[in-house]
Amino acid sequence: MKQNLTQKILSAHLISGELGAGGEIGIKIDQTLTQDATGTMAYLQFEAVGIPRVKTELSVSYIDHNTLQTGFENADDHAFLQSCASRFGVYFSRPGNGICHQVHLERFGKPGKTLLGSDSHTPTGGGIGMLAMGAGGLDVAVAMGGGEFYLPDPKVVKINLTGKLAPWVSAKDVILEVLRRLSVKGGVGKIFEYAGSGVSTLSVPERATITNMGAELGATTSVFPSDEQTRIFLKAQGRENDWIPLEADADAVYDEEICIDLSALEPLAAQPHMPDNVVAVSSLKNIKVNQVAIGSCTNSSYRDLMTAAAILKGKVVDPSVSLVIAPGSRQVLTMLANNGALTALLDSGARILESACGPCIGMGQSPSSGAVSLRTFNRNFEGRSGTADAGVYLVSPEVAAASALTGYFTDPRTLGPTVEIPMPENFRVDDSLIIPPGSPDTAIVRGPNIKALPIAPKLTPDLELPVVIKLNDNITTDDIMPAGAKILPLRSNIPALSEYVYSKIDAGFSARARQLGQSIIVAGQNYGQGSSREHAALVPMYLGVRVVLAKSFARIHKANLINFGILPLTFVNESDYDLIKDDSKLIFTNLTEALSNSVEFDILLSGRNASIRVSHNLTERQIGIILAGGLLNYTKEAGK
Ligand code: F3S
Repeated sequence: MKQNLTQKILSAHLISGELGAGGEIGIKIDQTLTQDATGTMAYLQFEAVGIPRVKTELSVSYIDHNTLQTGFENADDHAFLQSCASRFGVYFSRPGNGICHQVHLERFGKPGKTLLGSDSHTPTGGGIGMLAMGAGGLDVAVAMGGGEFYLPDPKVVKINLTGKLAPWVSAKDVILEVLRRLSVKGGVGKIFEYAGSGVSTLSVPERATITNMGAELGATTSVFPSDEQTRIFLKAQGRENDWIPLEADADAVYDEEICIDLSALEPLAAQPHMPDNVVAVSSLKNIKVNQVAIGSCTNSSYRDLMTAAAILKGKVVDPSVSLVIAPGSRQVLTMLANNGALTALLDSGARILESACGPCIGMGQSPSSGAVSLRTFNRNFEGRSGTADAGVYLVSPEVAAASALTGYFTDPRTLGPTVEIPMPENFRVDDSLIIPPGSPDTAIVRGPNIKALPIAPKLTPDLELPVVIKLNDNITTDDIMPAGAKILPLRSNIPALSEYVYSKIDAGFSARARQLGQSIIVAGQNYGQGSSREHAALVPMYLGVRVVLAKSFARIHKANLINFGILPLTFVNESDYDLIKDDSKLIFTNLTEALSNSVEFDILLSGRNASIRVSHNLTERQIGIILAGGLLNYTKEAGK
């Protein structure tokens, strides 16, 4: 049978389920990556699974998120992660070596392999022909132990690229065009596979920009074929032996097809506060710009920063603009230092930041109040920059650099002849900040910021659960478990972190949940949208939340709730949401039987003599996880 590229990689890794049958499939994971903000928990979980060394072909632990060391907490986390990597057989990329996705592309990614990362932008690896997906840290810990990764059998969408990008139009504009057409919900349950004659005109780093921001479509992942461009990139990284050719069969079948003529695209920008709020840059030209930030896992490759340097060379940034640049990796930074481009950037007035996530995760460089910030990043949600009333626009490095010079939104096509940045024949390869796995006897270093991993209790069949909070629609994981420079360093310290759950919405939540002991959260539509952070499930579990009853759930958050033993239920009749009050209690009887026997069952509203029909829509495996008290217990019990 003719196969598309996705089917080829999935069928080569399929362990359980059936492709095309529409159910759940389980696949073998070849490589994993973790970053420090999610990695501390992933390694505590791996330790709890009890497997002495990782069973993947390759696992890498990166330090790139929490590199601002204003207290001992991040340093504690780094020492813990370094010792875990050594002991469990994992490569360790030290702080300063770069952003996980950029470094993984440069040094480890291999066409045709599967990659699971505890970061939602892991699909960046699709640029080199990997099937690369983001997941919660617990799923990554299980994969490191050799366990399957389960996902809903995806629909495959062909994005047929034709033509060639016009001068000053770049890969960022391709993915912004896809977002403009499909919206931030347009990719749910889908894998986007790029094909067509236009593919060969894009280099691997350009492809990686496109697959990176496929995450903003809500897609499972995105993937490009492995072709001559892939071979050239790997050869320049000194890794030609890692190359294999890989593409869809001619006449392969897809669930949907979208056509994009690259030649017809123009410079685009995503306006505040959503990545799909996309318009032409030419329509924004009189908007004053206060800050420009170039970097992040989306746009900080050698090509991206050389383009910015070529635009800025011999000129000076407008005095009203703060220009900050965070190179994606030490490889990129040292190459710019050696070829003089770094001097051009510094002479223009750019401020050079560490090779790390930095401002993308709100670690420094918050814009001034009410400012307009142009960023080459991937997300522009309200407040993510650290400044509540700043307006963040997502743009290409070309638009960012051109606008830094004028102080206004500037269409780079007004700059004159374009700049061509050829792929270097050889990248500067120096892996001295990547520490190979050490001895299984390495002692794990646990500073005071490394606290024990909370384990979920088993679900008891009969429960009387008071409502701890009743919420409206579209609650994000950021609403549940906020991030930011103050809270991020506590990701390995659940007791301290638990003080901040829902702190943006309800300052009394944490104390009330503790006082109630066990409780239920009631919510509206799309509960848990946004980033994949598993702490938004783990910490409520720690505070005694046993069930979330919502009108609907965001997919990854629902998976995380199940992983931590919290039962996700939906209303069969959404109007029943109105029956529940802030001080209601809900009574569950014979829960084990109810879950196993039927998709729907009734629960009682205490004191009202009323019942509410609920639905669980869980697979048999997921019911097993809930009854075991979460994926960790389930995995240990099953000996997986
Ligand atoms: Fe880091 Fe931002 Fe990417 S936080 S991994 S640069 S989305």
